[in-house]
Amino acid sequence: MADEKKVLFSGMQATGNLTLGNYLGALKNWVDLSDSYECFYSVVDLHSITVRQNPAEFRQKAKNLLALYIAAGLDPTKNCIYYQSHVSGHAELSWILSCFTYMGELNRMTQFKDKSAKHADNINAGLYTYPVLMAADILLYQTNVVPVGKDQLQHLELTRDIAQRFNAIYGDVFQIPEPFIGKAGAKIMSLQDPLKKMSKSDENPNASIYLTDDKDTIIRKFKRAVTDSEANICYREEQPGVSNLIEIYSACTGKSIDDAVAEFAGKGYGDLKLAVGETVADMLAPLQTRHAEILSDKAYLDGIVKENAEKAQYFANKTLRKVQKKVGFNEKIR
Ligand code: TRP
Repeated sequence: MADEKKVLFSGMQATGNLTLGNYLGALKNWVDLSDSYECFYSVVDLHSITVRQNPAEFRQKAKNLLALYIAAGLDPTKNCIYYQSHVSGHAELSWILSCFTYMGELNRMTQFKDKSAKHADNINAGLYTYPVLMAADILLYQTNVVPVGKDQLQHLELTRDIAQRFNAIYGDVFQIPEPFIGKAGAKIMSLQDPLKKMSKSDENPNASIYLTDDKDTIIRKFKRAVTDSEANICYREEQPGVSNLIEIYSACTGKSIDDAVAEFAGKGYGDLKLAVGETVADMLAPLQTRHAEILSDKAYLDGIVKENAEKAQYFANKTLRKVQKKVGFNEKIR
């Protein structure tokens, strides 16, 4: 690994349509971080089959997501952008780590409890061992930092526990990863229920701005955004809807919250909604154009996919071989 730069790993699932929340909360942040770290950004498709997927749709969504990483500004010659399923080491390390993970630990994972409640007809073993696969993703690249949302912190904590347990037995095999602390990405809420996070799995399409929405749709959705009856543009807990609009405006323009609020002093909610809608649409337009261009250039995309998978595989194998040796597998004759 290039000597001085620390390693960063993160991944996203290709299920559902990516929203403005995913972009402002994660992807945009990834772009900002990409100069300072040796970055691995994976489309974590192995994780996605814990829930049933339609194969044709899933294939397309994964490709859309990978192209979106690039369209958002991640340079695929500097960042390793790849499909998790193309690097066999993820699944291999996951098995080994599962032998160092206790059922008691997995039983405590809140995401497992939530997802089992949601998919009561398909509580499969993969859903249960999902956090172990995530640990493998991270540990495979000797990752130093992992930018993740709050909902994934428990999984990262488990990753650290597994790594420390393994290291205590076999010596220093794994780097112990830290959650990325620093300027957190913006937290964007639902336009229809501003107390809930904007989510790609929300059934109400008006609750989310999708990165693929056109300008008219974006403006219409902001027009319908739930606010309040205070008729006063403020950023405060008592006005979650209006605060969310301000938050979005600030994240898109780079203006501080205070400056954003000041800009709308004395104006009405209609003005605010229109301004935010236009700002978001103008921000997304070039990204959408670039996305379409990337997707239409098959040779380019195939090349990126191949090269990056090879690069990821190279680093993954280094860790995997070490682990295999440590646990006592006979060396493969090469
Ligand atoms: N579980 C993460 C999520 O749903 C995605 C993910 C998988 C991930 N492996 C990862 C995130 C490794 C960070 C690091 O958001």
